[in-house]
Amino acid sequence: MEFEKNILCIGAGYVGGPTMAVIAAKCPQYRVLVVDVDKERIKAWNSDRLPIFEPGLQDLVKKTRDKNLFFSSEVQRGIQESEIIFVSVNTPTKTFGQGAGRAADLQYWEKTAREILSHSKTSKIVVEKSTLPVRTATAMERILNGNSRGISFEVVSNPEFLAEGTAIQDLENPDRVLIGAKETPGGIKARKEIVEIYANWVPRERIIESNVWSSELSKLTANAFLAQRISSINSISALCEKTEADINEVAYAIGMDSRIGPKFLKASVGFGGSCFKKDIMNLVYICESYGLEKVAQYWQAVVEINDWQEGRFIQNMLANMFNTVAEKRIALLGFAFKANTGDTRESPAIYIAQALIEERARIVVSDPEALENARKDLKRIEDKIIFEPDPYRAAEGAHAIAILTEWDLYKTLDYERVFDSMVQPAFIFDGRNILHHKRLFEIGFNVFAIGKAPLKHF
Ligand code: UDX
Ligand code: UDX
Repeated sequence: MEFEKNILCIGAGYVGGPTMAVIAAKCPQYRVLVVDVDKERIKAWNSDRLPIFEPGLQDLVKKTRDKNLFFSSEVQRGIQESEIIFVSVNTPTKTFGQGAGRAADLQYWEKTAREILSHSKTSKIVVEKSTLPVRTATAMERILNGNSRGISFEVVSNPEFLAEGTAIQDLENPDRVLIGAKETPGGIKARKEIVEIYANWVPRERIIESNVWSSELSKLTANAFLAQRISSINSISALCEKTEADINEVAYAIGMDSRIGPKFLKASVGFGGSCFKKDIMNLVYICESYGLEKVAQYWQAVVEINDWQEGRFIQNMLANMFNTVAEKRIALLGFAFKANTGDTRESPAIYIAQALIEERARIVVSDPEALENARKDLKRIEDKIIFEPDPYRAAEGAHAIAILTEWDLYKTLDYERVFDSMVQPAFIFDGRNILHHKRLFEIGFNVFAIGKAPLKHF
């Protein structure tokens, strides 16, 4: 069968995989190929055990794989066979040299651009899917168009707004799709081609066309605003704990104001995930490099409050468990950075686990999907930790439980059974405010939630 378009995606990660699965499912007339340098990852995409856990993804891949969706590690061939190339390789925070800890490390992006250039025999559209600093497109275009072979490249920015755990839903029914390109005839034509892909299932009024820099900056700004809401509510949660106000009641009351809105106001142990911290630090770095110190400090504070909130969680545990957790067994329920994903990148649980080990606690880590990643994150101290998928067994003989991920599973545990199996007095620290605190208190637990007065039996 002849396909209408040949689409390639370089980078088969949390972004590339689900995005291409949805494009393939919605557009049977296109051939979609996903390549990655990581051969093991490609093998997993071609197996029954996909490399990432995402609700609905398995079904979608089953329906489309080897029909119009293909996974391969032959990057060179992939480049030659396609007209449109999405790039979703990782852009982690730089760990070395200038801008270490803040700027984005663009080495994989640049390497990929050079690879596209060296293997291309025809002109192509290159789509930035990875989150990139503003004006990266220009640099990429310079690299790509620095050839004397008569082929040209248009770089289009199409940032991804999907959230893990709801990726398929977000992709199938997005609030908006943003496509930025240069305002030249070539740029506008390339943008139209990308619009055409999404128009197969996204209502036209939700597809925004903009210039390329607005598009790049919108992505960083969206993540900074989302993270800022969490830091805002978390900062108020600390005040609630001092004043007997209840953070859920405050969030509900302010969220009813349609100008504020109810979403993203859940106080928590802190935000995690591969994007928020990385993108804010990147924004901070860009502001500094343009001499906008005040703006940089403003956004930096969002990350600082998050670190502080994680630290506060540990201090709270220590203060309430008689100032020592040494030799005490503590069950951490949840390790993923949020529910419905196995992803643990930047999860607050990593910091909490490390801090508790420093305090010489004996910790048991439990999670329905993220134990494999947890083991990797805690490799350095792995021998000091028990990994236990069953939450009941994790809690057995524990002095305290800390809820670190809002998995539904933890809402419906038989807490009487859990309580009876624990060392008394039993403590529960709900870092996600998902449990029925009054009921837990009645069972006998000493209950500490985020932004609420503690419920103690002594
Ligand atoms: C990543 C970033 O986190 C995000 O900010 C960005 O917007 C897109 O890329 P994600 O898909 O979650 O998102 O990353 P990851 O799961 O690490 O996937 C990236 C993939 O690219 C990896 O599988 C890696 O092997 C692959 N890769 C990386 C290449 O194929 N070639 C390279 O040169 C570098
Ligand atoms: C985020 C953005 O939402 C998405 O648009 C972008 O493409 C990538 O980054 P993601 O990190 O996958 O997505 O998940 P998100 O749902 O945004 O959650 C991020 C973190 O914030 C999680 O740790 C979550 O638990 C936390 N969070 C979220 C809160 O603590 N409170 C809230 O009210 C919402």
